[in-house]
Amino acid sequence: MIQIKKAQKKDISDIALLWKDKLQACWTKQMIEASFKKEGIFTVMAACEPCLEKSQENVGFLMASFEAEAELYALVVKKAYQRHGIGELLLKNLIDFLRNKEIFSLFLEVAEDNVAGRSFYEKMGFEKIGERSSYYLKKIEGKEDLRVKALVLRKNF
Ligand SMILES: CC(C)(COP(=O)(O)OP(=O)(O)OC[C@H]1O[C@@H](n2cnc3c(N)ncnc32)[C@H](O)[C@@H]1OP(=O)(O)O)[C@@H](O)C(=O)NCCC(=O)NCCS
Repeated sequence: MIQIKKAQKKDISDIALLWKDKLQACWTKQMIEASFKKEGIFTVMAACEPCLEKSQENVGFLMASFEAEAELYALVVKKAYQRHGIGELLLKNLIDFLRNKEIFSLFLEVAEDNVAGRSFYEKMGFEKIGERSSYYLKKIEGKEDLRVKALVLRKNF
């Protein structure tokens, strides 16, 4: 069973690992820890409980900032758990939280070549409102680093 829980200090290593593994612009453990002390940062974990042989396993997370409007920094679900509605669950949890704060708009940036991410956000009702060229640095072994365009998406709710 998947539970969405507020992230705690004990989750920092899992967040850093998930982030580094799946997204190009990731934060270090120190940056994640510092974000826990800041106002206006929302971080939740998707925990599988009980999970196969383990009693609990973090299988995804979401981090966003919020002020007058909100920005999604990262949303990752472990490969083996993708396409089971966990990404949607994490996003809905954030949107419920934002509505309670009377924030009704969410922005994000997604790499143009991130097919899964783009399909997911399209399904979740996000619309493209802009582009940032040469935004992400993609490291490809044996080749020159590649600059990838970011698409700026927004959802109003
Ligand atoms: C994007 C991501 C978070 C989606 O998480 P998920 O738990 O697999 O998503 P869900 O199961 O909730 O998917 C909901 C819908 O989104 C769409 N979708 C999700 N992944 C997709 C994929 N790989 N290809 C096409 N459509 C996809 C589908 O319409 C899906 O509904 P369906 O399974 O009934 O067809 C996940 O693929 C991921 O962690 N990717 C790596 C990190 C990343 O790129 N994050 C986004 C940028 S911040």
